[in-house]
Amino acid sequence: MDNGSRRQFSTSIHIMALDGIVNVNSLFTFAVFLGLAWYPITDPAITLTGVAEPACVADTTMGEDLVAFHVYSFSSFLFSSLVAFALKQAIWIGQGGGKVRSVPMTIHVNTAALRAGILVSAAGSVFGCVFLMLALVDLVQIKLGTLACRSFHSLAAIVPLVILVPFALVVFVATIFSFRCLCFIIFVLSVFSSISFVIWSQYTGFFDFQNQVTLQNQNQFINILSFPSAWNHLSFPTGPPPKFLKIALFVKKWPHKHRAGGLERHALTLHLALAQRGHELHIFTTSSLNPSFPSFPIGTLYFHLSKPTAAGYLDQAVVWKQFQHQNSTGKPFDVIHTESVGLMHTRSRNLTNLAVTWHGIAYESIHSDIIQELLRTPEEPLAFSLTERAMKVVEEVKFFPHYAHHVATSDHVGEVLKRIYMIPEERVHIILNGVDEEIFKPNAAKGKDFKKKFGIPQSKTLVLGIAGRLVKDKGHPLMFEALMQMLKENDTFRETAIILVAGDGPWSDRYKDLGATVLVLGTLEPAQLASFYNAIDIFVNPTLRAQGLDHTLLEAMLSGKPLMATRLASITGSVIVGTEMGYTFSPTVASLKGTLYRVWHDGRVVLERKGQLARQRGLELFTATKMAAAYERLFLCISNDEENRDSYCTYQPSFQ
Ligand SMILES: *[C@@H]1O[C@H](CO)[C@@H](O)[C@H](O)[C@H]1NC(C)=O
Ligand SMILES: *[C@@H]1O[C@H](CO)[C@@H](O)[C@H](O)[C@H]1NC(C)=O
Ligand SMILES: *[C@@H]1O[C@H](CO)[C@@H](O)[C@H](O)[C@H]1NC(C)=O
Repeated sequence: MDNGSRRQFSTSIHIMALDGIVNVNSLFTFAVFLGLAWYPITDPAITLTGVAEPACVADTTMGEDLVAFHVYSFSSFLFSSLVAFALKQAIWIGQGGGKVRSVPMTIHVNTAALRAGILVSAAGSVFGCVFLMLALVDLVQIKLGTLACRSFHSLAAIVPLVILVPFALVVFVATIFSFRCLCFIIFVLSVFSSISFVIWSQYTGFFDFQNQVTLQNQNQFINILSFPSAWNHLSFPTGPPPKFLKIALFVKKWPHKHRAGGLERHALTLHLALAQRGHELHIFTTSSLNPSFPSFPIGTLYFHLSKPTAAGYLDQAVVWKQFQHQNSTGKPFDVIHTESVGLMHTRSRNLTNLAVTWHGIAYESIHSDIIQELLRTPEEPLAFSLTERAMKVVEEVKFFPHYAHHVATSDHVGEVLKRIYMIPEERVHIILNGVDEEIFKPNAAKGKDFKKKFGIPQSKTLVLGIAGRLVKDKGHPLMFEALMQMLKENDTFRETAIILVAGDGPWSDRYKDLGATVLVLGTLEPAQLASFYNAIDIFVNPTLRAQGLDHTLLEAMLSGKPLMATRLASITGSVIVGTEMGYTFSPTVASLKGTLYRVWHDGRVVLERKGQLARQRGLELFTATKMAAAYERLFLCISNDEENRDSYCTYQPSFQ
């Protein structure tokens, strides 16, 4: 071969190679572009394998990664194509302006530059493929369950992918240095591209919508009444309700200002949210001595007051009469909700459209009794006989079945109701408490102002926060003892830490005795309380009362603060489920002290990180919106609406 024909031969190979790159890349660029436009919904509840356990559901970062990788892949392919196209153009021009010649031409192209250009273009393709592979891995995990939970389908899809693609890329890179094999490379690339395109279209369901729909039909329909975990994990539609319900609520006391207990706050948050969504709420409650009964600017909220009995309960005969009157005039009630025993079991019998929310059951209280008994000093009288409490449990086990549907406010209580109280599973539903996410949210400026207002010096590197009623069974004697010992024994702790105590009660004066390191703030209004959470580094709740789900913990979480609380089953089972969002301790002075020292050692940076995770979990589970949506669905499902019962009681995320 003489020099001219050799050059001509290699030029035609170059053109073939470039043609190949341009063709393959165009296909890829188009495919990836479509993939972006058709970006699959990453709603955690929508996996092809149905509602998976939370560990198997991909989080939002995976969805974000998917989009990012898609975009990188798109850019790489586009880059590669454009470079290849430019080179081709250069050769074309070098060959004589694109005119077809019958006589072979000697052309003058800088071969080194050409080779470099092809290398750059090839590198673009390699990166494009790698990013596409990563995007596919994310996509598979979102659709079929994460690798972390060893989903068989995910593994079956990902293993061939991560073997074939790198293999093909190695072949590609190895051969790119020998130009004679370029034709072969192009062949390999096209095979690979078709395979990936097929895989890609399979998982995005780009070509077979039909297939995807049947898959969902098979797997995604679940009977919501038998859903075993907290409903807060499900995503309900956020649009207007499919139907406006007439709801009766029985609650012993409607909250007054900020001195409400957990049950009343739950009643307020939930039912205001439901009324705001357009449901007609009739609230049967006791008239309060306070003449300024709160008024609400919501047209669908009606109050029916009655005088409490001597024991402070709702007068059952009176409220039942009021209820019957409301039921017979106008529309009958769709659903009845009672907060704890607001409506007693003697009246709730035979009502199928009724749900009761438990904010503390006797079985849980036994744990509190044991703790209190262990902490009791010899001089103190016995608070509650444990045998008496056990009999209370037996009593509850007997009358609880007279309520049709039970809502447990924590995973632990749900388990106890099913196992120990022997209530059928399809009548026990777990809906965790929620708090107003508009009030409780991170706001550094508010926190700073709060610190300034109360004169908290910069030298304090750890601000501990305590809130709630300052009474014995909220663990304040324990907290007081632990703090007193620590302030006495360790000067550094005293100089660098400060404890803010929000709330009122018998222990507020004792805390004041501890000196300047403990700042007692008194009762705070909700707005002030929100600032309080923003001013602290960690929220400490030493409660000994194993009842319901404490609202203060949820408020602190939504404010982005880590938690430290007593190791009670409802708390460790639903709120502080791991060390990544806080600390738990046994209700003893030694354990409390040890944990406080650990928090102090960990310091602000660690606490901030835990706080962010706490907020993430809070937003996922503990918002008032989430809670109201879950109750709304429960009420729709158990209301006497035979016609739509199936659709209300079925969970099918993709068609909502
Ligand atoms: C309420 O009224 C409806 C319709 O009249 C009736 O079927 C239902 O039994 C009533 N509910 C109660 C608890 O009385
Ligand atoms: C509930 O139904 C049972 C039988 O089904 C009946 O004996 C009982 O009297 C009813 N109770 C009420 C309060 O209506
Ligand atoms: C306080 O505690 C820290 C950590 O436990 C320790 O390093 C320090 O020496 C203690 N200071 C005093 C005065 O005990």
